[in-house]
Amino acid sequence: MRIEIERAHRDDESEVFHLVEQNHLPLAGLYEHFETAIVAREDGGRIVGTAALEMYRDGALLRSVAVALDVQRKGIGHQLTDAALALAHELRAPAVYLLTTTAERFFPRFGFEHIARTDVPPGVQTSVEFTSTQIERFVRASGEGKQAGASADGRREEKKGVGDVVTHWVKQLSGNPMW
Ligand SMILES: CC(C)(COP(=O)(O)OP(=O)(O)OC[C@H]1O[C@@H](n2cnc3c(N)ncnc32)[C@H](O)[C@@H]1OP(=O)(O)O)[C@@H](O)C(=O)NCCC(=O)NCCS
Repeated sequence: MRIEIERAHRDDESEVFHLVEQNHLPLAGLYEHFETAIVAREDGGRIVGTAALEMYRDGALLRSVAVALDVQRKGIGHQLTDAALALAHELRAPAVYLLTTTAERFFPRFGFEHIARTDVPPGVQTSVEFTSTQIERFVRASGEGKQAGASADGRREEKKGVGDVVTHWVKQLSGNPMW
């Protein structure tokens, strides 16, 4: 299987949305930021992975990192994350933020550090990922069984619903000034 990582085209929308939903990630806000979405295309055809950036004046939000269930654990998530970070750098974001309930052990390998929600800058916090009730519902659905509590670095994780934990992460991009 040959995988090409590239910027998404508008006609990729339905496939991308399907993939994001299949992985139980929220769709709210994705359409508005589709211009900075990335896809992994299998042999020039089927879309097997996605990632998207929401660009704000004080940072980028990495979201919708999702790989088709039948091709997970083959390095595609890694390639998508690398490509999204490269795009954020190219677009001169000073830092890349993300929130997750599902992949808190995946992102540290790219240099993301665990932060408190209050450390996310105000521009990035305007994202629907922070404000949407859809996300609240998603968090409740996907976080089932997790226990809120102190993380490894001693910070208190945020409890959003019954037993759900959202963690926030940042990767600074050196050399990029604030917009
Ligand atoms: C997280 C995700 C994008 C990783 O994509 P992938 O193509 O399967 O990952 P890769 O093959 O590039 O990387 C595999 C490595 O990541 C680890 N990994 C994959 N998913 C992980 C997860 N949810 N948590 C922790 N580690 C994970 C694997 O253990 C593997 O580690 P190894 O290299 O030490 O063996 C994919 O599992 C996915 O779509 N998950 C559902 C959606 C999601 O949770 N997205 C993140 C929130 S935005």
